[in-house]
Amino acid sequence: MIPKQTIDEIFDAAIIEEVVGDFVPLKKRGANLLGNCPFHNEKSPSFTVSPAKGIYKCFGCGKAGNSVNFVMEHEHYSYPEALRYLAGKFGVEIEEEAQTDEQKAATDERESLYIVSNYAAKYFNKQLLESDEGKAIGLSYFLERGFREDIIETFQLGYSPDAWTAFTDEAEKAGHNLKFLDKSGLTIVKGEKKFDRFKGRVMFPIHNLSGRVLGFGGRILKANDKAAKYLNSPESEIYHKSNVLYGIYTAKKAISKEDICYLVEGYTDVISMYQAGVENVVASSGTSLTEGQIRLIKRFTPNITILYDGDAAGLKASFRGIDMILQEGMNVRVVLFPEGEDPDSYAKAHTTEELKKYVTENAQDFIRFKTSVLIKDVGNDPIKKAELVKDIVRSIAIIPDQIKRSVYTQECSNLLDIPEQALINETNTILRNNIAKQTKYKSSSQRSGPSQGNDQEMPDDLFFPDEFQGAPEPEPVNDLKHWEREVIRLLVSFGDQTIQLELPSEEKKKEYEDVSAAVYIVDNIKNDNILFEDETYQKVFDFYAQKLDKDELPTHQEFINNSDQDISKLAIDVFSVRHDLSPGWAENKINTTTEEMQLSMAVIRVMYAFQLSKLTALIFKNQDQLKIEKDSDKQMLLLQEQVNLQQIKLQLAAKLGRIILN
Ligand code: CTP
Ligand code: MN
Repeated sequence: MIPKQTIDEIFDAAIIEEVVGDFVPLKKRGANLLGNCPFHNEKSPSFTVSPAKGIYKCFGCGKAGNSVNFVMEHEHYSYPEALRYLAGKFGVEIEEEAQTDEQKAATDERESLYIVSNYAAKYFNKQLLESDEGKAIGLSYFLERGFREDIIETFQLGYSPDAWTAFTDEAEKAGHNLKFLDKSGLTIVKGEKKFDRFKGRVMFPIHNLSGRVLGFGGRILKANDKAAKYLNSPESEIYHKSNVLYGIYTAKKAISKEDICYLVEGYTDVISMYQAGVENVVASSGTSLTEGQIRLIKRFTPNITILYDGDAAGLKASFRGIDMILQEGMNVRVVLFPEGEDPDSYAKAHTTEELKKYVTENAQDFIRFKTSVLIKDVGNDPIKKAELVKDIVRSIAIIPDQIKRSVYTQECSNLLDIPEQALINETNTILRNNIAKQTKYKSSSQRSGPSQGNDQEMPDDLFFPDEFQGAPEPEPVNDLKHWEREVIRLLVSFGDQTIQLELPSEEKKKEYEDVSAAVYIVDNIKNDNILFEDETYQKVFDFYAQKLDKDELPTHQEFINNSDQDISKLAIDVFSVRHDLSPGWAENKINTTTEEMQLSMAVIRVMYAFQLSKLTALIFKNQDQLKIEKDSDKQMLLLQEQVNLQQIKLQLAAKLGRIILN
């Protein structure tokens, strides 16, 4: 845990142009700096950094944020990782907050496992590069496979000596506790005996997103029928296989940049492709693809291309993975390598251009891929062909996006020569059954007794409507959220300015009083005891109101660099658009001249509109209660309330009308 005070210090110390400047060449342009956006490909620069506001904003792709957001987005760090990175860069010392004993034990355990794994990676690497045995056996093996030395370094490859306890002895001597060597799986402990798990193997460390070592794969070098070719670290507190992809650390930048991720089977495929210049490549490393792994990729791109060996046994087994990717709403393509080749061997035997060309030209969408795999069994058998079609339609029905569904349906129709309508009907049947299953599940858990006839209630054409995803009922249209946002926007952007309120006066000449915009907004809301529906808006409001109580005004920086991510995100959003008083407000026939007058009108009008929509929401709520209230006394009270609310609403509406019109 990083204490809040330290977080504030980090935000204060971080200089946005230096943070961004480490990754993006920037040129001075007036008060701002300008560069090519690192988040999308562009020819003319539209990425601006504002040192004064401490934010960046791309006018091409819309990405915006502060220093912390930038490293989170660019380096794909988590929030604490980003803070630590900036603390390191700007020399802020982090004193971790005290944790409970339980938290401490858990953190200590994970931290110890990280430390032991990091130590092991360094040890194996040193053995590979410096020991006689390592050089003679391990290094020569890698070099023979064609791995360059810089690539061996990039992937931190290593060698584990062919002795029972060489590593364990060394690690214990260096002060590492046997308990953690055991838990990390590096040492196998059996009663009194202990020995190195990876004895005599070349080592592939497995890194997480931020480059920490989680575990290892070790490849045997001698042909040995009894021992497995690869041994892997067991699951541990830090190594959860289903959420890890080999190569993600070296690939993440290229995945974002190229907007596509290549998925291969093995360690050596990743390394060889990377060496050949295709860096956006990861491996599931022998396990079948999991949802966690797919989501990991989804953080960087919606596009996955799976690369398979030419002679890959059980291509059908890959269908499950494809469906899982489709279900995530991602796009999946498949490349088959020629007989006897895998990405590793192909990358070795060809130039980078040839490799890239092969992969782009041979990528098939999942329909073509499935068809090409299944068609071999079909021959002239119409029943088998029908099964093939159904199989493909089942995959199409999984896709959440209906436009994509219809594109694939068209393709399937052309490819297999089946009328499109037949495919649509089949898709709808599947979707309908899915809803029926969901509804049945719901109704049997909500009502007692068996539910029947669900199918009859199903709409006929589900292909286009979206309901099948079980999305929640849309809320009745309500502009309350909009006005809440406007209030907050004015408060945050213009709270420090003065507005003029008209004083009631008998004379023809109007009299005005100067009031702080913030005080006007905050007092009005407090007097009416209004709460915001939106949690973040409420947080911003409370933050502002607390400052006002102390006779202070919060600065824009305090919002932008707020340690509460929700507040900071909202503020960046507000500040990175031009400071228009109100979108579309100018058309409202207002001829007031000074900016101050305009601001006054905007604040007053927005406050009325906000109160009005809040009132409308209350009236609806009251009506709903009236409908279900059985007690006649309580009904009377609710009715009375209804009349009151309606009256206030009329008054407010009249005021608002006058303001807009005059
Ligand atoms: N694998 C494993 N355990 C095994 C065999 C394979 O964990 N006994 C995993 C490894 O992650 C391996 C991947 O499955 O990288 C693919 O296996 P394979 O194609 O046999 O290995 P290659 O990566 O081709 O390795 P090499 O070229 O060194 O033979
Ligand atoms: Mn291989």
